Amino acid sequence: MASFLHVVVLAAGEGKRLHGRLPKVLMPLWGRPAVAWPVGAAKALKPSSLVVVGGEHSEALERALEGSEVSLARQEEPLGTGHAVLSAREALKDAEGELLVLNGDCPLVTSELLAELLAVHRAHRGPVSFLSMHLSDPSGYGRVTRDEAGKVTAIVEEKDATPEQRALTEVNAGLWVFDIPSIWDDLSRIGAENEAGEIYVTDLVEMRVAAGDSVEALCWERAEDVLGFNDQKQLSEVRAILRHRILDGHMANGVEIVDPNSTFIDADVTIEPGACILPCTMIEGRSTIATGCHVGPFSHLREGSVLMEGSKVGNFTETKKSVLGPGVKAGHLTYLGDTQIGAGTNVGAGTITANYDGKTKHPTQIGKGAFIGSGTVIVAPAQVGDGALTGAGSVLTARTVIGDGEVWVGQPARLHRSSPTDESSGSTEEPAS
Ligand code: UD1
Ligand code: MG
Repeated sequence: MASFLHVVVLAAGEGKRLHGRLPKVLMPLWGRPAVAWPVGAAKALKPSSLVVVGGEHSEALERALEGSEVSLARQEEPLGTGHAVLSAREALKDAEGELLVLNGDCPLVTSELLAELLAVHRAHRGPVSFLSMHLSDPSGYGRVTRDEAGKVTAIVEEKDATPEQRALTEVNAGLWVFDIPSIWDDLSRIGAENEAGEIYVTDLVEMRVAAGDSVEALCWERAEDVLGFNDQKQLSEVRAILRHRILDGHMANGVEIVDPNSTFIDADVTIEPGACILPCTMIEGRSTIATGCHVGPFSHLREGSVLMEGSKVGNFTETKKSVLGPGVKAGHLTYLGDTQIGAGTNVGAGTITANYDGKTKHPTQIGKGAFIGSGTVIVAPAQVGDGALTGAGSVLTARTVIGDGEVWVGQPARLHRSSPTDESSGSTEEPAS
């Protein structure tokens, strides 16, 4: 049989134990929905097809996975993991080869691990292989039972396990390899005679063993690659591991992270080597930070923040969809939203771009070499020219356009001088900055 690889990611469960604000597989993990993590790991193996099985929240799932080139299958009712795999049958109807199945709630899984599981399956030549791990606290997981010779005999879900079985620490990680098409017949023979009344994919193990096949479990030593999450505590543990993986990646790449314990960076943030991230800082979305930048302490860079070479964002400064040109400084108590700032501009302490009028967001443009005085409020849309200056406490009302080199002061701000060096025009009030 040709060794085509097909992947199914199960994401139709209700996630009841999480009591979450969102369906479990859509819970955000460092800027990506949880399900996007196993999807990403599987895609690295370049499968012939990748099907995500969604349920009640399929539309939201489709939106969350937009652009990631996966197909979606729908499981009309969450009747169990075996039934969920079967729901992908139609989408894979002409497929043959190997079927890699991943639970959608395993965001720590890596492509290296999946490749190893596939290699074990190929070497073993059995119809079913899965990944197991040892956990000191196995609660919530299906336990792997073995015979005296050490051969896998079954996976028993916690709800159905005897006290002796519950004491077992080897658990099913929820990652499988099957052969197509035999898997479809196997799955259609599984019943729902268990405590939950669900069709469990795990029942395939006992069924195949009873039929005389051997089922291979690759026991993975680094449990932190395969932890699932069913409740908020497990979610927070998974989140913490992913967070440190992201930070470790940046540090390996030459980014200085002064205190990893108080730094939070989304997975799709780009940071060039030679940037320095100071403590108590959060960087979100697809923000990018160039070399020589300083961020923090206590900064919050939201979606779409772009810091060009050598710019600085400091204490209690928040940015969103804003581009700070090379050498821009926004060091203190500032909010910059939907703002473009040219090279070398200084943004004084307490500057606020009031970008939202209650209905719509508006842009602010500030030129290069400008000087925004402390406490300036810029009601957007507004423009400040190159080399312009605003006095401390100025309030620029909406649609203000400050020309290159002009000095504006007051509330509402008005022209004070036509250039910072021109003594002849405007009022006598001095801009304090
Ligand atoms: C499952 C395994 C358990 C394993 C654990 C690893 C089964 C029966 N149990 O338990 O042995 O130790 O994963 O984390 O397989 N899903 C659907 N449709 C459904 C039910 C679930 O798509 O009808 C999806 C869920 O969205 C989830 C995945 O399948 O992504 C696993 O379901 P979950 O309810 O988390 O199973 P566990 O109880 O964790
Ligand atoms: Mg689970």
